[in-house]
Amino acid sequence: MSVTFSFDGRKVPASEGQSVAGALLAGGHDVLTRSPKYRRPRGVYCAHGHCPNCLLRVDGVPHVRSCMVAAADGMRVQTEGATRRRFDPYRALNLVGKLFPVGFQYRWFKRQNLAWRLWEGRLRSLAADTEVPAPFEVPPARRLSADLLVVGAGPAGLAAAASAARAGLKVVLVGRRARLGGSASAVLGDQGSTVGADELEFVRASADVTVLAPATVVAGFDDRYVVDAGDAAVEVTAPASVLATGAYQRAVAFPGNDRPGVLLATALHRLALEDRALAGAAAVLVTDDDSAYHCADDLARAGVTVRAIVDTRPRGTRRPDAELPPSTEVLTGSRVVRIRGRRRVTAAVVDTGGAWRSIGCTVIGMSGGWQRADELRYVATSTGDDVVHGSRAARIDPGQQGGGPMPVLHGVGAVVGTMDRAAALAEGRAAGEWAAGEWAAGEWAARA
Ligand code: FES
Repeated sequence: MSVTFSFDGRKVPASEGQSVAGALLAGGHDVLTRSPKYRRPRGVYCAHGHCPNCLLRVDGVPHVRSCMVAAADGMRVQTEGATRRRFDPYRALNLVGKLFPVGFQYRWFKRQNLAWRLWEGRLRSLAADTEVPAPFEVPPARRLSADLLVVGAGPAGLAAAASAARAGLKVVLVGRRARLGGSASAVLGDQGSTVGADELEFVRASADVTVLAPATVVAGFDDRYVVDAGDAAVEVTAPASVLATGAYQRAVAFPGNDRPGVLLATALHRLALEDRALAGAAAVLVTDDDSAYHCADDLARAGVTVRAIVDTRPRGTRRPDAELPPSTEVLTGSRVVRIRGRRRVTAAVVDTGGAWRSIGCTVIGMSGGWQRADELRYVATSTGDDVVHGSRAARIDPGQQGGGPMPVLHGVGAVVGTMDRAAALAEGRAAGEWAAGEWAAGEWAARA
């Protein structure tokens, strides 16, 4: 079934379940926002709710991450602030950006009375000034109590929730996206993998697992966690939690890597395989790790032509066993030095080690390694660092933290550096069993 929504007054078709950002990209609407300082155009970048590039006003609600919202019939989507204007004179700032010293910020004008009076209103508009929606009644928080909270619904989180529930624990599982399963296939390739399928099926069917998705844990106080579940807040009380929040893909540094059409490789993966928004696209992947090869394999199967993998690692680096089509060139010891195309990306100029080559493409995917998505440990504890531990490391007894009872946070999967799907599943299972063992031994009952 297809749906139609409006984007700044223009009709945009979308297929059922497709994200707003995916539908806009498929419809050729590349620029969604602009950078507040130089007004540089910004388009979909992470497709996973982790950047400010796709913030739009959706049905009157400002600053909505459009890559995380499914398109619906009759939806009204608008750009915000000066991005909305057909002619934005401040775009000229990008042309004179070189005149500003490195580190210059507009707040410098605050020190200049006259300049500040002239600039204050304009700065608001540059920073996506938007209309505040009418006041509304905030519904009271829903309260849930569980034996274990699992944050993250990728393979490790699913395994932890399933094994704890199988052992008789009441579990609350919080997933960032409505679709459970995480981004492991984007990281490791192999869309058809059935690793973790049992856990997924069990979690969906089990009465002992309460799934909150799409939802985000936004705060933690001792054994209470606040979950933003979109239309309501949920307060979850659990004496222990498993952190399975995964990892963020990093960008690769090259000139123009912030332009619309240059995305993270995982974003390309999601847009091509889930949103079906890249039909007919030609991609170049820039990488300094192995995951781009698996991604290329999946993209090719989804109908995207992967023209080249530009691997910044030295020549002779052994590539993983991904089945790349013969049309995909692998250029090791190479780097992107320029992006061609005025309104759209049309080519990547690659230095292959002395010689420069222009490779035609419509999108560029970056895979610059991984950064653990472990922010929750800072908001969930007052002591930060010492409370999260991989299953391979010893768990610090919460009593050692001082200051009364603390939740036990147990990290599993990519958040503790385990990027292999089978290993992440094993860690998740072990964490669930560990939780069940602690509960059976009465470790938490005394503190609950
Ligand atoms: S949050 Fe939507 S593209 Fe990054």
